[in-house]
Amino acid sequence: MSDEREILRAASARLAAAGVDNPRLEARVLWEAARDPAPFESFIARREKREPVAYITGHKEFWSLDFQVGPGVLIPRPDTETMIESVLTEFPDRAAKLRVLDLGTGSGCILAAVLSEYPNATGLGVEASDTARAIATANMERLRLGTRAEIRPGNWAEALDERFDVIVTNPPYISTADIATLEPDVREYEPFGALDGGPDGLDAVRALAPELNRLGGTSFVEIGIGQADSTAEILSAAGLHVLRAAKDLSGISRIVIAQSQPLPKKELE
Ligand SMILES: C[S@@+](CC[C@H](N)C(=O)[O-])C[C@H]1O[C@@H](n2cnc3c(N)ncnc32)[C@H](O)[C@@H]1O
Repeated sequence: MSDEREILRAASARLAAAGVDNPRLEARVLWEAARDPAPFESFIARREKREPVAYITGHKEFWSLDFQVGPGVLIPRPDTETMIESVLTEFPDRAAKLRVLDLGTGSGCILAAVLSEYPNATGLGVEASDTARAIATANMERLRLGTRAEIRPGNWAEALDERFDVIVTNPPYISTADIATLEPDVREYEPFGALDGGPDGLDAVRALAPELNRLGGTSFVEIGIGQADSTAEILSAAGLHVLRAAKDLSGISRIVIAQSQPLPKKELE
């Protein structure tokens, strides 16, 4: 047996003992990233403590694009790709000059993926976290989207006064009580401010709803399991017209799609 196979076998046994779900696959991914026994040992030691693989390698693929990630930014999730599919369904003209807003852009994964599909689109990503903003800005540059995407600090859309064709947002939507039940990889390593949605998980949706109506466009809001009806109610109460909820690959309603119906100016006065 080669040294490499022996190293991988020992490492995957350590990861299995630490409760990691796919120890062999992860040992191989970390070996590919390390390519040398010394860094590999430190990678395995970190993963044994349940630090996410993406933080250790510094990368995560989303929508077939390579994103830089690290502590302080949410790791892009495959479920969120449903957001990009939904935008493509609602806006089939790839040549459209869409103006796109991403609220809580994190790594910038949603905004970058949307812009990658619409070469004439431009976008703005708003993000409260300094760390995430630095990573999002770097990702836009690395993906050659820097001239079409701007990343700005902000508390959701409060500083904005511009209309957008498309608003995408994956807000924090886990109820505070449920955070304790998450895997240690998430609960101990990913930023609380990217996860915590308040008592019922819907605090951010409540804050965002009037802003989506004011600035949209068509809005695409990612939600957690069982939140479709309450999210639709909140959006409707803010004046939006809810079109549908798109399901992810597991059949879970994941993206609520709604159309802005701004009040005529007279009624606002
Ligand atoms: C669930 S994460 C989504 C990140 C990224 N869009 C994605 O899909 O991977 C939510 C993001 O919203 C940001 N956020 C939370 N509250 C915010 C606020 N009031 N204003 C702007 N961004 C906020 C968090 O820092 C975090 O990056």
